[in-house]
Amino acid sequence: QITGSSVRKIFDSRGNIAIEATINIGNYSGTCSAPAGASTGETEVIAYPDRDVEKSIDFYNRNIRNAIIGFNALAQRSFDTLLHDLDGTDNFSAMGGNLATALSIANAKAVASYLNIPLYRYVGGLNPAIPRPLGNIIGGGKHSKRGTTIQEFLVSSQGKSFYDSVYYNILVHKKVGEILSDKLKNQSVGLGDEKAWTADVSDEEAIDIMKSAVNEISSDNKVKILLGVDFAADSFYNNGKYIYKNKILSRDEQIDFAISLNKEHGFYYIEDPLFDTDFEGFSEITSKIGNNALIVGDDLYTTNPERIKKGIELKSTNGVLIKVNQIGTLSDTTESVKLATKNKMETVVSHRSGETTDDFIAHLAVGFNSKLIKSGTIGGERLAKLNELIRIEEGLID
Ligand code: PGA
Ligand code: ZN
Repeated sequence: QITGSSVRKIFDSRGNIAIEATINIGNYSGTCSAPAGASTGETEVIAYPDRDVEKSIDFYNRNIRNAIIGFNALAQRSFDTLLHDLDGTDNFSAMGGNLATALSIANAKAVASYLNIPLYRYVGGLNPAIPRPLGNIIGGGKHSKRGTTIQEFLVSSQGKSFYDSVYYNILVHKKVGEILSDKLKNQSVGLGDEKAWTADVSDEEAIDIMKSAVNEISSDNKVKILLGVDFAADSFYNNGKYIYKNKILSRDEQIDFAISLNKEHGFYYIEDPLFDTDFEGFSEITSKIGNNALIVGDDLYTTNPERIKKGIELKSTNGVLIKVNQIGTLSDTTESVKLATKNKMETVVSHRSGETTDDFIAHLAVGFNSKLIKSGTIGGERLAKLNELIRIEEGLID
Protein backbone atom coordinates (compact mmCIF):
# COMPACT_ATOMS: atom_id res chain seq x y z
CA GLN A 1 0.00 0.00 0.00
CA ILE A 2 1.20 3.46 -0.88
CA THR A 3 1.65 5.35 2.38
CA GLY A 4 2.97 8.61 1.00
CA SER A 5 4.42 10.43 -1.98
CA SER A 6 6.14 13.69 -2.86
CA VAL A 7 7.37 15.58 -5.89
CA ARG A 8 10.09 18.17 -6.34
CA LYS A 9 11.94 20.22 -8.93
CA ILE A 10 15.50 19.22 -9.79
CA PHE A 11 17.73 20.12 -12.77
CA ASP A 12 18.59 18.18 -15.90
CA SER A 13 21.79 18.04 -17.97
CA ARG A 14 20.79 21.17 -19.92
CA GLY A 15 20.22 23.05 -16.68
CA ASN A 16 16.47 22.98 -17.21
CA ILE A 17 13.98 22.15 -14.48
CA ALA A 18 13.01 18.46 -14.31
CA ILE A 19 10.41 16.78 -12.14
CA GLU A 20 11.23 14.07 -9.61
CA ALA A 21 8.72 11.95 -7.70
CA THR A 22 8.98 9.68 -4.65
CA ILE A 23 6.55 6.93 -3.70
CA ASN A 24 6.61 5.44 -0.19
CA ILE A 25 5.45 2.00 0.89
CA GLY A 26 6.00 2.14 4.63
CA ASN A 27 9.76 2.22 5.11
CA TYR A 28 10.43 1.44 1.46
CA SER A 29 10.57 4.06 -1.25
CA GLY A 30 11.26 4.65 -4.92
CA THR A 31 12.36 7.90 -6.55
CA CYS A 32 12.42 8.74 -10.25
CA SER A 33 13.09 11.84 -12.32
CA ALA A 34 11.94 12.27 -15.92
CA PRO A 35 14.15 13.38 -18.84
CA ALA A 36 13.30 15.91 -21.56
CA GLY A 37 13.58 15.74 -25.36
CA ALA A 38 14.53 18.44 -27.84
CA SER A 39 13.51 16.68 -31.05
CA THR A 40 10.20 15.60 -29.57
CA GLY A 41 7.80 13.62 -31.75
CA GLU A 42 4.45 15.08 -32.85
CA THR A 43 2.53 12.23 -31.22
CA GLU A 44 4.34 12.14 -27.86
CA VAL A 45 2.36 12.89 -24.73
CA ILE A 46 2.75 16.47 -23.45
CA ALA A 47 5.77 16.74 -21.10
CA TYR A 48 4.35 19.58 -18.96
CA PRO A 49 1.08 21.54 -19.23
CA ASP A 50 1.99 24.78 -21.07
CA ARG A 51 5.65 23.65 -20.75
CA ASP A 52 5.43 24.68 -17.10
CA VAL A 53 6.75 22.30 -14.43
CA GLU A 54 4.92 24.35 -11.77
CA LYS A 55 1.59 23.43 -13.36
CA SER A 56 2.43 19.72 -13.00
CA ILE A 57 3.28 20.28 -9.36
CA ASP A 58 0.00 22.15 -8.79
CA PHE A 59 -1.87 19.29 -10.43
CA TYR A 60 -0.11 16.79 -8.20
CA ASN A 61 -0.94 18.78 -5.05
CA ARG A 62 -4.59 19.24 -6.00
CA ASN A 63 -5.45 15.90 -7.63
CA ILE A 64 -2.89 13.18 -7.09
CA ARG A 65 -1.27 13.20 -3.65
CA ASN A 66 -4.39 12.25 -1.73
CA ALA A 67 -5.83 10.03 -4.46
CA ILE A 68 -2.94 7.55 -4.43
CA ILE A 69 -2.67 7.12 -0.64
CA GLY A 70 -3.75 3.57 0.26
CA PHE A 71 -3.52 2.38 -3.33
CA ASN A 72 -2.09 -1.11 -3.92
CA ALA A 73 1.37 -0.31 -5.28
CA LEU A 74 1.87 -3.88 -6.53
CA ALA A 75 -0.87 -3.38 -9.10
CA GLN A 76 1.25 -1.37 -11.53
CA ARG A 77 -1.28 -1.49 -14.38
CA SER A 78 -4.05 -0.22 -12.07
CA PHE A 79 -1.74 2.48 -10.72
CA ASP A 80 -0.96 3.63 -14.25
CA THR A 81 -4.64 3.50 -15.21
CA LEU A 82 -5.39 5.65 -12.16
CA LEU A 83 -2.87 8.21 -13.45
CA HIS A 84 -4.69 8.25 -16.81
CA ASP A 85 -8.05 8.64 -15.05
CA LEU A 86 -6.85 11.43 -12.77
CA ASP A 87 -5.41 13.22 -15.79
CA GLY A 88 -8.55 12.81 -17.86
CA THR A 89 -7.00 13.62 -21.26
CA ASP A 90 -5.58 11.21 -23.84
CA ASN A 91 -2.12 12.79 -23.93
CA PHE A 92 -1.41 13.63 -20.28
CA SER A 93 -1.82 17.30 -21.08
CA ALA A 94 -3.48 18.01 -17.70
CA MET A 95 -0.78 16.59 -15.40
CA GLY A 96 2.14 16.38 -17.83
CA GLY A 97 3.61 13.13 -19.16
CA ASN A 98 6.82 13.73 -17.25
CA LEU A 99 4.96 13.78 -13.91
CA ALA A 100 3.18 10.56 -14.96
CA THR A 101 6.51 8.99 -15.92
CA ALA A 102 8.21 9.98 -12.67
CA LEU A 103 5.29 8.66 -10.56
CA SER A 104 4.90 5.44 -12.55
CA ILE A 105 8.58 4.48 -12.41
CA ALA A 106 8.90 5.67 -8.78
CA ASN A 107 6.07 3.30 -7.92
CA ALA A 108 7.83 0.39 -9.68
CA LYS A 109 11.08 1.22 -7.88
CA ALA A 110 9.29 1.35 -4.52
CA VAL A 111 7.75 -2.06 -5.17
CA ALA A 112 11.09 -3.53 -6.27
CA SER A 113 12.63 -2.21 -3.07
CA TYR A 114 9.72 -3.61 -0.99
CA LEU A 115 10.16 -7.02 -2.69
CA ASN A 116 13.93 -6.77 -2.27
CA ILE A 117 14.65 -7.37 -5.96
CA PRO A 118 16.33 -5.12 -8.53
CA LEU A 119 14.10 -3.04 -10.80
CA TYR A 120 15.13 -5.01 -13.91
CA ARG A 121 13.80 -8.20 -12.36
CA TYR A 122 10.55 -6.57 -11.33
CA VAL A 123 10.13 -5.25 -14.86
CA GLY A 124 11.33 -8.26 -16.80
CA GLY A 125 10.84 -11.38 -14.72
CA LEU A 126 13.28 -14.25 -14.92
CA ASN A 127 15.04 -13.72 -18.24
CA PRO A 128 17.02 -10.53 -18.05
CA ALA A 129 19.68 -9.89 -20.71
CA ILE A 130 22.45 -7.34 -20.98
CA PRO A 131 22.10 -5.05 -24.04
CA ARG A 132 24.95 -3.48 -26.05
CA PRO A 133 25.65 0.23 -25.68
CA LEU A 134 24.78 2.50 -28.62
CA GLY A 135 26.59 5.81 -28.17
CA ASN A 136 26.45 9.20 -29.84
CA ILE A 137 29.83 10.36 -31.26
CA ILE A 138 29.11 13.30 -33.60
CA GLY A 139 25.91 15.28 -33.23
CA GLY A 140 23.95 18.12 -34.71
CA GLY A 141 20.33 18.74 -35.57
CA LYS A 142 18.41 20.17 -32.64
CA HIS A 143 21.11 19.12 -30.17
CA SER A 144 23.68 21.75 -31.14
CA LYS A 145 24.25 24.85 -33.26
CA ARG A 146 25.95 24.60 -36.68
CA GLY A 147 26.58 20.86 -36.29
CA THR A 148 25.68 18.24 -38.87
CA THR A 149 22.10 18.16 -40.16
CA ILE A 150 21.82 14.50 -39.19
CA GLN A 151 21.18 14.60 -35.46
CA GLU A 152 23.41 11.71 -34.36
CA PHE A 153 26.30 9.62 -35.66
CA LEU A 154 26.48 6.57 -33.41
CA VAL A 155 28.56 3.49 -32.70
CA SER A 156 27.90 0.22 -30.96
CA SER A 157 31.02 -1.79 -30.11
CA GLN A 158 30.48 -5.51 -29.86
CA GLY A 159 32.99 -6.23 -27.11
CA LYS A 160 33.16 -9.37 -25.00
CA SER A 161 31.45 -7.62 -22.11
CA PHE A 162 29.29 -4.54 -21.61
CA TYR A 163 32.25 -2.88 -19.92
CA ASP A 164 34.49 -3.56 -22.97
CA SER A 165 31.84 -2.29 -25.37
CA VAL A 166 31.49 0.99 -23.45
CA TYR A 167 35.27 1.30 -23.37
CA TYR A 168 35.60 0.89 -27.16
CA ASN A 169 32.76 3.35 -27.78
CA ILE A 170 34.70 5.84 -25.65
CA LEU A 171 37.90 5.16 -27.65
CA VAL A 172 36.00 6.02 -30.85
CA HIS A 173 34.72 9.21 -29.18
CA LYS A 174 38.29 10.22 -28.24
CA LYS A 175 39.61 9.38 -31.71
CA VAL A 176 36.89 11.42 -33.43
CA GLY A 177 37.69 14.35 -31.13
CA GLU A 178 41.32 14.18 -32.28
CA ILE A 179 40.39 13.96 -35.95
CA LEU A 180 38.03 16.94 -35.68
CA SER A 181 40.59 19.09 -33.86
CA ASP A 182 43.23 18.29 -36.48
CA LYS A 183 40.86 19.02 -39.32
CA LEU A 184 39.42 22.26 -37.93
CA LYS A 185 42.65 23.83 -36.67
CA ASN A 186 41.28 27.34 -36.20
CA GLN A 187 37.94 26.43 -34.71
CA SER A 188 36.89 25.12 -31.36
CA VAL A 189 35.28 21.72 -31.33
CA GLY A 190 32.63 21.35 -28.64
CA LEU A 191 30.10 18.94 -27.23
CA GLY A 192 26.36 18.95 -27.95
CA ASP A 193 23.48 18.20 -25.60
CA GLU A 194 24.25 14.48 -25.49
CA LYS A 195 28.03 15.02 -25.21
CA ALA A 196 28.65 14.04 -28.80
CA TRP A 197 31.18 16.17 -30.68
CA THR A 198 29.67 19.06 -32.53
CA ALA A 199 31.56 20.92 -35.22
CA ASP A 200 30.95 22.76 -38.46
CA VAL A 201 31.36 19.78 -40.77
CA SER A 202 29.02 18.45 -43.45
CA ASP A 203 27.16 15.19 -43.04
CA GLU A 204 29.39 13.62 -45.72
CA GLU A 205 32.51 14.66 -43.79
CA ALA A 206 31.03 13.22 -40.61
CA ILE A 207 30.42 9.89 -42.37
CA ASP A 208 34.08 9.75 -43.48
CA ILE A 209 35.37 10.70 -40.04
CA MET A 210 33.21 8.07 -38.36
CA LYS A 211 34.36 5.39 -40.78
CA SER A 212 38.04 6.13 -40.37
CA ALA A 213 37.86 6.33 -36.55
CA VAL A 214 35.89 3.09 -36.36
CA ASN A 215 38.28 1.30 -38.73
CA GLU A 216 41.24 2.29 -36.64
CA ILE A 217 39.80 1.46 -33.20
CA SER A 218 38.26 -1.72 -34.52
CA SER A 219 41.46 -3.08 -36.05
CA ASP A 220 43.71 -1.94 -33.17
CA ASN A 221 41.51 -3.76 -30.66
CA LYS A 222 40.16 -6.58 -32.82
CA VAL A 223 36.60 -5.70 -32.02
CA LYS A 224 33.58 -5.34 -34.25
CA ILE A 225 32.12 -1.83 -34.09
CA LEU A 226 28.76 -1.11 -35.69
CA LEU A 227 28.04 2.32 -37.19
CA GLY A 228 24.72 4.09 -36.85
CA VAL A 229 22.79 7.30 -37.43
CA ASP A 230 19.70 8.94 -36.04
CA PHE A 231 18.52 11.29 -38.77
CA ALA A 232 15.69 12.71 -36.61
CA ALA A 233 14.43 13.65 -40.07
CA ASP A 234 11.39 15.56 -38.77
CA SER A 235 13.71 18.32 -37.66
CA PHE A 236 14.89 19.15 -41.19
CA TYR A 237 11.88 18.10 -43.26
CA ASN A 238 9.82 20.82 -44.84
CA ASN A 239 7.13 20.60 -47.48
CA GLY A 240 8.24 17.38 -49.14
CA LYS A 241 11.95 18.20 -48.95
CA TYR A 242 14.83 17.26 -46.68
CA ILE A 243 16.87 20.40 -46.13
CA TYR A 244 20.53 19.76 -45.25
CA LYS A 245 23.09 22.44 -44.48
CA ASN A 246 24.64 21.91 -47.92
CA LYS A 247 21.94 20.23 -50.04
CA ILE A 248 18.21 19.69 -50.49
CA LEU A 249 16.89 16.18 -51.13
CA SER A 250 13.50 15.06 -52.42
CA ARG A 251 11.72 12.24 -50.59
CA ASP A 252 13.04 9.65 -53.08
CA GLU A 253 16.57 11.02 -52.84
CA GLN A 254 16.35 10.88 -49.04
CA ILE A 255 15.28 7.23 -49.26
CA ASP A 256 18.24 6.49 -51.56
CA PHE A 257 20.59 8.33 -49.22
CA ALA A 258 19.41 6.27 -46.23
CA ILE A 259 19.86 3.04 -48.20
CA SER A 260 23.32 4.12 -49.37
CA LEU A 261 24.42 4.62 -45.78
CA ASN A 262 24.01 0.89 -45.34
CA LYS A 263 24.96 -0.39 -48.81
CA GLU A 264 27.91 1.92 -49.52
CA HIS A 265 29.10 2.93 -46.09
CA GLY A 266 28.20 -0.13 -44.03
CA PHE A 267 26.00 1.59 -41.45
CA TYR A 268 24.07 -0.97 -39.39
CA TYR A 269 21.70 1.25 -37.40
CA ILE A 270 19.37 3.78 -39.08
CA GLU A 271 16.83 5.71 -36.97
CA ASP A 272 14.08 8.03 -38.25
CA PRO A 273 15.38 8.44 -41.82
CA LEU A 274 12.06 10.01 -42.90
CA PHE A 275 9.43 12.32 -41.40
CA ASP A 276 7.08 10.73 -38.93
CA THR A 277 4.03 9.96 -41.04
CA ASP A 278 5.80 8.34 -43.99
CA PHE A 279 5.25 4.73 -42.87
CA GLU A 280 5.40 3.62 -46.54
CA GLY A 281 8.77 5.29 -47.11
CA PHE A 282 10.14 3.50 -44.03
CA SER A 283 8.83 0.21 -45.49
CA GLU A 284 10.69 0.86 -48.73
CA ILE A 285 13.97 1.45 -46.88
CA THR A 286 13.46 -1.58 -44.64
CA SER A 287 12.61 -3.91 -47.52
CA LYS A 288 15.57 -2.75 -49.63
CA ILE A 289 18.10 -3.06 -46.80
CA GLY A 290 16.60 -6.23 -45.37
CA ASN A 291 18.07 -7.93 -42.37
CA ASN A 292 21.54 -6.45 -42.76
CA ALA A 293 20.58 -3.49 -40.65
CA LEU A 294 18.34 -2.25 -37.89
CA ILE A 295 15.86 0.36 -39.12
CA VAL A 296 14.36 2.03 -36.06
CA GLY A 297 11.36 4.26 -35.50
CA ASP A 298 11.53 6.90 -32.76
CA ASP A 299 9.41 9.91 -33.74
CA LEU A 300 7.64 7.47 -36.09
CA TYR A 301 6.19 5.51 -33.16
CA THR A 302 6.72 7.64 -30.03
CA THR A 303 6.51 4.36 -28.02
CA ASN A 304 2.80 4.27 -28.87
CA PRO A 305 1.25 0.78 -29.34
CA GLU A 306 -1.25 2.03 -31.93
CA ARG A 307 1.51 3.46 -34.10
CA ILE A 308 3.72 0.40 -33.60
CA LYS A 309 0.77 -1.73 -34.82
CA LYS A 310 0.67 0.29 -38.01
CA GLY A 311 4.44 -0.17 -38.43
CA ILE A 312 4.02 -3.93 -37.99
CA GLU A 313 1.24 -4.11 -40.60
CA LEU A 314 3.23 -2.10 -43.14
CA LYS A 315 6.60 -3.70 -42.20
CA SER A 316 7.94 -0.17 -41.77
CA THR A 317 10.88 -1.02 -39.51
CA ASN A 318 12.51 -3.93 -37.73
CA GLY A 319 13.25 -1.89 -34.60
CA VAL A 320 11.44 0.37 -32.14
CA LEU A 321 12.97 3.07 -29.95
CA ILE A 322 11.58 3.01 -26.41
CA LYS A 323 11.26 6.18 -24.29
CA VAL A 324 8.90 6.00 -21.30
CA ASN A 325 8.04 9.69 -21.27
CA GLN A 326 6.87 9.59 -24.89
CA ILE A 327 3.90 7.54 -23.67
CA GLY A 328 3.87 8.41 -19.96
CA THR A 329 3.73 5.19 -17.91
CA LEU A 330 5.64 1.97 -17.35
CA SER A 331 2.60 -0.18 -18.23
CA ASP A 332 2.02 1.51 -21.58
CA THR A 333 5.74 1.19 -22.31
CA THR A 334 5.67 -2.52 -21.43
CA GLU A 335 2.70 -2.97 -23.76
CA SER A 336 4.70 -1.41 -26.61
CA VAL A 337 7.73 -3.59 -25.85
CA LYS A 338 5.62 -6.77 -25.75
CA LEU A 339 3.90 -5.89 -29.01
CA ALA A 340 7.22 -5.18 -30.74
CA THR A 341 8.93 -8.28 -29.34
CA LYS A 342 6.03 -10.56 -30.27
CA ASN A 343 6.32 -9.30 -33.84
CA LYS A 344 10.07 -9.85 -34.05
CA MET A 345 10.99 -6.21 -33.85
CA GLU A 346 14.06 -5.35 -31.77
CA THR A 347 13.67 -2.77 -29.01
CA VAL A 348 16.20 -0.06 -28.17
CA VAL A 349 15.69 1.61 -24.78
CA SER A 350 16.75 5.24 -25.03
CA HIS A 351 17.75 8.31 -23.06
CA ARG A 352 16.57 11.81 -24.01
CA SER A 353 18.81 14.71 -24.94
CA GLY A 354 18.03 16.39 -21.59
CA GLU A 355 18.80 13.75 -18.95
CA THR A 356 18.94 13.51 -15.19
CA THR A 357 21.28 11.10 -13.42
CA ASP A 358 18.43 8.61 -12.92
CA ASP A 359 19.51 5.15 -14.13
CA PHE A 360 16.10 3.49 -14.56
CA ILE A 361 16.55 2.99 -18.32
CA ALA A 362 19.51 0.67 -17.59
CA HIS A 363 17.09 -1.60 -15.72
CA LEU A 364 14.40 -1.33 -18.38
CA ALA A 365 16.84 -2.32 -21.13
CA VAL A 366 17.80 -5.46 -19.17
CA GLY A 367 14.23 -6.30 -18.15
CA PHE A 368 12.88 -5.77 -21.68
CA ASN A 369 15.67 -7.85 -23.28
CA SER A 370 16.53 -4.93 -25.53
CA LYS A 371 19.23 -5.44 -28.12
CA LEU A 372 20.70 -1.98 -27.52
CA ILE A 373 20.63 0.79 -24.94
CA LYS A 374 21.02 4.26 -26.43
CA SER A 375 22.55 6.39 -23.72
CA GLY A 376 25.40 8.41 -25.17
CA THR A 377 29.11 7.74 -24.75
CA ILE A 378 30.43 10.19 -22.17
CA GLY A 379 28.92 12.71 -19.72
CA GLY A 380 27.88 11.92 -16.15
CA GLU A 381 24.15 11.75 -16.87
CA ARG A 382 24.81 9.27 -19.75
CA LEU A 383 27.37 7.21 -17.83
CA ALA A 384 24.98 6.94 -14.86
CA LYS A 385 23.07 4.41 -16.99
CA LEU A 386 26.09 2.70 -18.55
CA ASN A 387 27.89 2.35 -15.21
CA GLU A 388 24.75 0.83 -13.68
CA LEU A 389 24.80 -1.76 -16.47
CA ILE A 390 28.43 -2.56 -15.67
CA ARG A 391 27.28 -3.27 -12.09
CA ILE A 392 24.33 -5.37 -13.27
CA GLU A 393 26.59 -7.35 -15.60
CA GLU A 394 29.00 -8.09 -12.77
CA GLY A 395 26.10 -9.53 -10.79
CA LEU A 396 26.42 -6.90 -8.09
CA ILE A 397 22.78 -6.04 -8.34
CA ASP A 398 20.65 -9.12 -7.88
P1 PGA B 1 15.32 13.97 -27.97
O1 PGA B 1 15.95 13.14 -29.17
O2 PGA B 1 15.95 15.33 -28.11
O3 PGA B 1 13.84 14.01 -28.30
O4 PGA B 1 15.59 13.32 -26.68
C1 PGA B 1 16.69 12.01 -29.04
C2 PGA B 1 16.40 11.15 -30.23
O5 PGA B 1 15.87 11.66 -31.26
O6 PGA B 1 16.66 9.95 -30.20
ZN1 ZN C 1 15.67 9.76 -32.35
